[in-house]
Amino acid sequence: MIRTRNRRRRGEALLLLLEFQRLDHDAEGACASAAVKLLTPSLDSASVPAWETGMTKYSSILGTVGHTPVVRINRLAPAHVNLYVKIEAFNPLGSVKDRLALGVIEAAERSGALKPGQTVIEATSGNTGIGLAMVCAAKGYPLVVTMADSFSVERRKLMRFLGAKVVLTPAALRATGMLDMAIALAEKNGWFLTRQFENEANADFHSKTTAQEILADFAGERLDYWVTGYGTGGTLKGVARVLKAERPETRVVVCEPADAALLASGEIQQRKPDGSPAAGHPAWKPHPMQGWTPDFIAKLTGDAVALGLTDQLLSIAGPDALRYSRALAQQEGIFVGITAGATFAGALKIAETAPAGTTLLAMLPDTGERYLSTPLFADVPAEMTEEEQAILASVTP
Ligand SMILES: Cc1ncc(COP(=O)(O)O)c(C=O)c1O
Repeated sequence: MIRTRNRRRRGEALLLLLEFQRLDHDAEGACASAAVKLLTPSLDSASVPAWETGMTKYSSILGTVGHTPVVRINRLAPAHVNLYVKIEAFNPLGSVKDRLALGVIEAAERSGALKPGQTVIEATSGNTGIGLAMVCAAKGYPLVVTMADSFSVERRKLMRFLGAKVVLTPAALRATGMLDMAIALAEKNGWFLTRQFENEANADFHSKTTAQEILADFAGERLDYWVTGYGTGGTLKGVARVLKAERPETRVVVCEPADAALLASGEIQQRKPDGSPAAGHPAWKPHPMQGWTPDFIAKLTGDAVALGLTDQLLSIAGPDALRYSRALAQQEGIFVGITAGATFAGALKIAETAPAGTTLLAMLPDTGERYLSTPLFADVPAEMTEEEQAILASVTP
């Protein structure tokens, strides 16, 4: 994949070379070496991550996390707005959670909370576990994941394929059930619990990467709305606080499932002293947006609201999430999951009534490949349809 930053850097380098031809002799050296540095591909190193170098040759898979493309919507967007999506499926394991996984593991290595060879454990609906499985495989940590047995089978298999152990908890015990199991296992065995829902390193990594990528992609351009959902709230807190500081005119729109509109309910989340949930949230009901809105408001999400980082709340109906995930695939060629469809539905709601020239950016958290065994693919047949049989029959005697 040719990354946009690379193209931009090559453009910058060519401009520098042109500049250097016009300058006096002393300035030539500095200008030429800066241009050469920009043009010369070289290995990244652990200390110089890919999102800073823009290189396409990496010393580890971990260097490829982040730096996802922002893509214009051409067919599904109303003509009077500029609607863009940031496609997190371009991360190496296909979701926004690759960022969190790298962020929390490297922060724990730096602080000494994670020792070499120590087992890592987390409660996850899948994408965090898959991202952690990649990071742990690349760095040599064993990984145990606790996960409700209602989440898609592909997710379990992917984690096991990447070398992780997956311990299933009954769906009836909801997200709090997988979390309690992870805490119990961590305490009993002395394992490192990544605490994705409260870990500041999750939001910090989004401030350092996702937010900076957005600032760079919209530098000198309008950005009127940034639209996201929330699971842990790492994306929301990490990106929104940077936008509030750097692009105060950008309105932060937060989407949640209509069946589980926890933020809109206004009901307070009960917490333990460490910020983790003390009980499930009363406004939660099961919803099809896997990865969004667990049965509690995570601390990072609660922080974003308490800090005044959110401007508007939208509730999204389950069928709209599925509908727009399919529409993105079939009308834009953008293959993403259910929460991506949901966030996109939210962006379209804003776009409908926005003034002409409004620019919006919606986060698309993961790849559609993660949902082959879910209702998203329920209408996709495995056998030939009548239409396909007719195509075959047109050349078969
Ligand atoms: C599919 C999907 N969408 C959205 C999100 C939300 O991301 P975050 O945890 O940063 O709030 C997640 C993660 O929970 C996810 O797995």
